[in-house]
Amino acid sequence: MPVDYREQDHIFTLSGGKISYVLGVTPDGRLMNLYWGARVPDGSVCCDLSDYPGFASFDLPEYWQPAEVPTLGSGWYGTPAVDAVNAQGDHVTDLRYAGHRILSGKKPLPGLPATYTEADGEAESLEIDLRDPLTGLEATALYTVYAASGALTRSIRIRNGGTAPITLRGVMSASVPLWGSDYDAVYLKGGWARERSVVRVPIGRTETCLYSQRGASGHESSPFLTLCARNTDELSGEVWAASFVYSGSFCAKIDVNNGGNSRLSMGMNPQVFQWLLNPGEEFQAPEAVLVYSAEGFSGMSRIYHRLYRTRLARGVWRDRPRPVLVNNWEATYFNFNEEKILDIVREAKKLGIELFVLDDGWFGRRDIDNCSLGDWTPDLRKLPNGIAGLSAKVHAEGLMFGIWVEPEMISPDSDLYRAHPDWCLHVDGRTRTLERNQLILDLSRKEVQDYVIDAICNVLRTGNVDYVKWDMNRNMTEYFSMELPPERRMETQHRYMLGLYRAMEEITSAFPQVLFESCSGGGGRFDGGMLYYMPQTWTSDNTDAIARLSIQYGTSFVHPLSAMGAHISAVPNHQVGRTTSLQMRGDVAVCGNFGFELDLAKMTDEEKELAAKLVARTKELRGLTQTGEFTRLISPQDGKYAAWQIVSEDGSEALLCVYRILSCAATPPIRVKMAGLEADAEYTDPEGRTFSGAVLEHRGYSVWLRGDFTSRLIRFKKK
Ligand code: DGJ
Repeated sequence: MPVDYREQDHIFTLSGGKISYVLGVTPDGRLMNLYWGARVPDGSVCCDLSDYPGFASFDLPEYWQPAEVPTLGSGWYGTPAVDAVNAQGDHVTDLRYAGHRILSGKKPLPGLPATYTEADGEAESLEIDLRDPLTGLEATALYTVYAASGALTRSIRIRNGGTAPITLRGVMSASVPLWGSDYDAVYLKGGWARERSVVRVPIGRTETCLYSQRGASGHESSPFLTLCARNTDELSGEVWAASFVYSGSFCAKIDVNNGGNSRLSMGMNPQVFQWLLNPGEEFQAPEAVLVYSAEGFSGMSRIYHRLYRTRLARGVWRDRPRPVLVNNWEATYFNFNEEKILDIVREAKKLGIELFVLDDGWFGRRDIDNCSLGDWTPDLRKLPNGIAGLSAKVHAEGLMFGIWVEPEMISPDSDLYRAHPDWCLHVDGRTRTLERNQLILDLSRKEVQDYVIDAICNVLRTGNVDYVKWDMNRNMTEYFSMELPPERRMETQHRYMLGLYRAMEEITSAFPQVLFESCSGGGGRFDGGMLYYMPQTWTSDNTDAIARLSIQYGTSFVHPLSAMGAHISAVPNHQVGRTTSLQMRGDVAVCGNFGFELDLAKMTDEEKELAAKLVARTKELRGLTQTGEFTRLISPQDGKYAAWQIVSEDGSEALLCVYRILSCAATPPIRVKMAGLEADAEYTDPEGRTFSGAVLEHRGYSVWLRGDFTSRLIRFKKK
């Protein structure tokens, strides 16, 4: 069984796939993390803490020991998993074992996104109760291990079982010690239109801290952090990774302690989080997903991809081929009318495009970005027949109809703001800070959530909408709800997320046939939390094919290709001014949810002919790209080449994608070494040449690409 309990030694071994995670309870009731790594036999690691002797001065023996839920005030000096201030005004907390349960399958986390099971045998769960005898604070550490993949989920539920209030100041969903500090940290950093570059730094004896306090996971840092062995690469070596299934502010840290041991923590950001627990109240932390791989970063990513694609994303579109779309944003920005839109739609039909998406500017009087957010009624100057009329015409052309909304926002120049000036996040007496000329609705308030739910459901119902792009274009300021009592105002950011998740749950379940795509100025909220409600995300506002190589490459560390929106846009590219060929743009966009973001009516006949071929190819390949096993082969980050491959689930075909960034004189063709093929099987390339899996893996496949920004996709069929 995935969770083994040895009562005589008080040892829990959680095993699945190729991993084990071992916990032990000391005779005095402290929960220790004894091991996380390659699979070991059940019960084979014992709770022997002699590796942690303690030293004569500075730091108690406990400090050296691998606490699973470290708390403050009694000799622990690192990042706590639970920081709780009690009614006496101190935060000394001493959590001791109080019981446990082993459950088949996995329970949902109330109000929060989380991975799930469809059959009990897929996973087993463990809940370990801990209790602080003095204050009555109870913490339940939650674990689920997936039997086949070994993906391990972690969370914590904290309850005030005492008689006086307790304030949580810090909660880590996962806090895992690792032996030694001879590791590199690998994580994803960026900014708007530069999302998710891969960063690798040796940790030595330093501290690594990634965080967001923006009220969104953010463009800057992704809620994802790994430790790896110094020699780990894409295909081999050990990786210990944590990804947070949460869309708000977060904190991810690696501490190295006095004795040179490391700890990976992931949870709420204490700068913008606090939670009051009155007696009997509880707090459920979001979920962190831990993945260990001895097969390098691509091995790690494959575990995340499968889990996030099949047991985090939900709904009918989870497993359906995603439609090829055209979005009018970069074609028209705010400047369109029904006739212009229908021009694009008629061209789209000729190219075989399946879905038209009407982006920003269709509601209120939104000719620029300084008004109308919150007023979700069509602008009849632009669309005389409203959304319903346009939708009918798009459907009559045989395309699906999609629409952009930004439900969390309110423009000061809007009827909604004039009616409810107190509905935005604000602090009395302070400036309401504008970003992109807009404010954020206070979704911690139930009546505001209800307004959003009603307004968006009304648009979807009256418009007969098939697809929604749910955008969010600013981060939080003045994030303290005036509706909450002062002692609870630090709860606003998390209460907002709970309100947002409620709104998303209600809206997506009211329209189960609608395909939802999340967006936040591109990829400013690309995280597992959003994926639970919406199976795809707009990866970046940067649509340049070369910039996209790095962005999609970094995003793929955690997220499957089925989650990434990737479109062909016009050249010179609107964000970076670069010109790349239509073929190259198509070769990059096909490795995601493919679409166009340009005025199709302005394409030449030759371009239209190629565009139609790219659409047809996408339809042929999307079964493979959406569900195949993805492996990164060459990083674009050194500016020469990029390459990756996708192997179908049944192994019968493989797609090799090779991109040349900057060309160089007198260099031979590149030989790209593929990975994970069957050594003795034969694979045929499009020219009918046959290679064994071993040759493709060890000798490589030669690709001759001349010129900057060139690309080639090679589809191999297994004989
Ligand atoms: C930001 C998005 O990322 C863009 O694709 C577009 O929808 C604009 N917002 C519209 O305001």
